[in-house]
Amino acid sequence: MKFLSTTCAALAAAGFLAIAMQPANAEETSDTRALSRTDLKNLQFALEQIKHGRQIFRYDTFGDEAFWGDALRLHTAIAGSANGGVGAGLSPKAALAVGLKVDVEALPPALRADLQKKQVDLDSPATTLALLQLDAVVGVRGLFDDSGRRLQSVGITCALCHSTVDDSFAPGIGRQLDGWAARDLNVGEIIALAPNVQPLVDLLRIAIPSIDAATVRTVLRSWGPGKFDAELLMDGKAVRPDGKPAATLIPPAFGLAGVNLHTWTGWGSVTHWNGFVANLEMQGQGTFFDPRLNDSAKFPIAAEAGFGDVRRTPDLVTPKLAPLHFYQLSLPAPRPPRGSFDAAAAKRGKALFEGRADCSRCHVPPIFTEPGWNMHTPDEIGIDSFQADRSPDERYRTAPLKGLWTHGKGGYYHDGRFARLEDVIDHYDDLLSLSLSSSERADLVEYLKSL
Ligand code: HEC
Ligand code: HEC
Repeated sequence: MKFLSTTCAALAAAGFLAIAMQPANAEETSDTRALSRTDLKNLQFALEQIKHGRQIFRYDTFGDEAFWGDALRLHTAIAGSANGGVGAGLSPKAALAVGLKVDVEALPPALRADLQKKQVDLDSPATTLALLQLDAVVGVRGLFDDSGRRLQSVGITCALCHSTVDDSFAPGIGRQLDGWAARDLNVGEIIALAPNVQPLVDLLRIAIPSIDAATVRTVLRSWGPGKFDAELLMDGKAVRPDGKPAATLIPPAFGLAGVNLHTWTGWGSVTHWNGFVANLEMQGQGTFFDPRLNDSAKFPIAAEAGFGDVRRTPDLVTPKLAPLHFYQLSLPAPRPPRGSFDAAAAKRGKALFEGRADCSRCHVPPIFTEPGWNMHTPDEIGIDSFQADRSPDERYRTAPLKGLWTHGKGGYYHDGRFARLEDVIDHYDDLLSLSLSSSERADLVEYLKSL
């Protein structure tokens, strides 16, 4: 059996590689030599890593239930007092309202049929528990006792913020789309449901001595859908100088292959950030080293709490970094739906993007960020330095633009300051003195929608 499945995988891989080795464009010549045993082995290795990485991305909590469940007791608020928890509990309706998604492929046919016939109680937290038992709530994992009924803890996975669903079954219920930014998800509202936010208060007190639980909840609720503040527990900066929340938009996690630095402010490579997030944001249990966090002026909380050198045993993160990386790099940016942009206008927009508007100086096709050190000072892109200053290099990373059409909700730039693509173009028109006509602006917008 093992032999058979291995052979099948190798054959599938060979077919896959035969396709992959077709010349991608007319200038390339095809490599007609047969694949060697080593090629096949490498290919099989890559496929296995991707498959394993998908599992990790969707379902691995890295042990973070010790934080979200055991410490914050989020599971008790989800279950509600009727199911051994506290308060009203989280009904499926309420879960969908805070932007949580349901993976229809995890639902057994009978349940799908009942849902269609509206015979499922969407107002009852018990239904949410049933969905958690099926691993159907994207990015949320429930841990149940031996009876399988009582929710004992809850953990989160990467998919919570970097996946959505295609709504193919109903709004919020569909096939899971990994890598898509969860722009409906109100992370702050969800964390604020936790009965105990004291662990957050204790950390934030290092930077803000007067902070209390009520203020922490106010901060969390100020973020709004599609946003999270990955730097809050490093520097304790909850508001920008203009008084608005310091949270940033959740970016997509697809289309990252070939891109050097990641996050809005270029903290590091994909795998650097994966380690950072799993240990310091999700509060998983692992090893993380980044001595830049020892800068107590910039990162008072991280420096005091020792986030620059974390060693928790057993290490549930490091053995997963390679497959996770493979999986992320395997996710292409999805193509825009047919008819979602004007092709003739997009063609004219492309000529502008690569010509007079000078966009491709920074957004270099086909990765749409610079090959190399893809970072710019706030002045170069004409915005304030607040978020850049919260990162080691004090710069903004050139955002890769592929798949832009998937994440317009919440706006553009790190904090969504530009509500529409038209506003982004107007900003560059001013900044770079482009003097674009209104039809040229419209053409550029169509091009951006086509990426
Ligand atoms: C609670 C929401 C949340 C969770 C969970 C989460 N992320 Fe993120 N992720 C974000 C936010 C917000 C950013 C932007 C951070 C910034 O720029 O400061 C981000 C940025 C990223 C980026 C950079 C993308 C780019 O090129 O800009 C990658 C890669 C990434 N996350 C991967 C992961 C992985 C892998 C996991 C699981 C180990 C994960 N994230 C879990 C919210 C989340
Ligand atoms: C000097 C380099 C540079 C040039 C020139 C430039 N950009 Fe950008 N662009 C950036 C950076 C850096 C960001 C990220 C801003 C942030 O994080 O807030 C960005 C962000 C964007 C975004 C938002 C992406 C998102 O995910 O929200 C769009 C759209 C965009 N640029 C389009 C353009 C267009 C169109 C042009 C030409 C008119 C252009 N850019 C010229 C560096 C540049």
